[in-house]
Amino acid sequence: MTDQRSNGLKPLRVAIVGLGTVGGGVIRLLETNGALIARRSGRPIQIVAISARDRTKDRGIDLSAYEWVDDMTSLVQRADVDAVVELIGGADGPALTLARQCLAAGKPFVTANKAMIAHHGLALAGAAETAGVALKYEAAVAGGIPVIKGLREGAAANEIGRVYGILNGTCNYILTTMEKAQEAGNPRDFTEVLKDAQALGYAEADPSFDIDGVDAAHKLSILASLAFGTRLDFGGVDITGIRHVIAADIAEAAALGFRIRLVGMAQNGAEGLFQRVHPMLVPLNHPLAHVDGSLNAVVAEGNFVGRLFFQGAGAGDGPTASAVVADLIDVARDEYGDAFAMPVASLADQTKADAGARIGRSYLRFQVADRPGVLAEIAAATRDAGVSIESMIQRGTAAANDGGVLVAIVTHAGQERCIADTLARLAGSDSLLDQPMVMHILD
Ligand code: NAP
Ligand code: HSE
Repeated sequence: MTDQRSNGLKPLRVAIVGLGTVGGGVIRLLETNGALIARRSGRPIQIVAISARDRTKDRGIDLSAYEWVDDMTSLVQRADVDAVVELIGGADGPALTLARQCLAAGKPFVTANKAMIAHHGLALAGAAETAGVALKYEAAVAGGIPVIKGLREGAAANEIGRVYGILNGTCNYILTTMEKAQEAGNPRDFTEVLKDAQALGYAEADPSFDIDGVDAAHKLSILASLAFGTRLDFGGVDITGIRHVIAADIAEAAALGFRIRLVGMAQNGAEGLFQRVHPMLVPLNHPLAHVDGSLNAVVAEGNFVGRLFFQGAGAGDGPTASAVVADLIDVARDEYGDAFAMPVASLADQTKADAGARIGRSYLRFQVADRPGVLAEIAAATRDAGVSIESMIQRGTAAANDGGVLVAIVTHAGQERCIADTLARLAGSDSLLDQPMVMHILD
């Protein structure tokens, strides 16, 4: 087919900085789908320069067609570079320096860096507004899922009250791999499954960002700002990761009719802005219970559109490259708007909501000494804190990994502050062999 739109038009000339999992994926994608992309963009997207830390590294792709540049910041001043793609990572350091210099030079900037956007997104968006250029970050949230576009454009007419989902592919891969291995009667160790996720290119350079929930919190804060039109508030996210989820939790959750997922949830209303990332028990009849492996999913509830459900690959080279190049196509078409869907000055300040006032069911797991009176002690603490128990499972030493007894409780719906009160009442008890685990239930 004749390429009528892109024929003879000036290409968008890009520099790619960072040639790891995502950078390599972007190069492969542009090489594979270049002709189709040119038709869709109205002009070709051409890589003119590349940069990373180590020029000699074997990256498994032929980079000989591209000019290697050691000093990445020189790229922003070059007349033959129209846009810069940053795929290094890190909230600060070289990525942030590059972003600031690029936008100050009046060049469009595309990034997959959620840490940088969560911490500096408003300042960078302000710089992009001042310069009148694009700041694009589709790949920063939920990998290949076009959720930034979905909220910024598709759902822009709605007031969104709640946005939540599975935002970290590494954690979802670990939880669901352990879950399936357990179901198959061949339990696998957390550390070993994390290594698989790293080998598959899902994890951050420092995987504690994944397993401690920080990466999901970066993404959640970005989604919340876009969904609610509020100022980015990463510091306002309450974060708990999956480090303390043990195999017995996965088994008990299954026995109770749930699956465990690391869920990021943000809600906005008269009570303030609530933002939390933590492992939750998801009932089997909820779509999030069926999001497996490195998949991510985002639910957004709008006042006219109703419930939107986005699902797709949340990590890895191909899906993430797909999102990065989608941003480049917008830049090539000269179709971009405000980075946070409105001018930074129009974003609202919002106070942090009191999580203790939230109502819901919870799962509590205790590892306790196997002696008379321990269950009565827990029951007394729940009674005195005003927590009503819906169901309880006690397992003998085989289920607990430290020789004690494992007690798993599901509560009736109640205020979260009562759960905190229960734990405070049990604090310091010599019946407890380990820190109790609390996971709220997604109802
Ligand atoms: P990666 O595989 O670790 O690659 C990072 C690249 O950045 C490497 O090529 C590295 O150079 C380069 N780099 C690091 N420090 C540098 C420095 N000081 N100066 C110049 N280059 C430097 O990381 P990645 O997984 O591709 O992730 C890149 C970005 O995408 C991050 O912001 C990440 O959060 C985000 N992201 C990743 C995924 C995913 O699934 N992996 C998904 C969505 C978003 P060398 O190769 O020479 O060492
Ligand atoms: N480390 C991230 C994850 C990459 O596992 O979800 C995608 O943002």
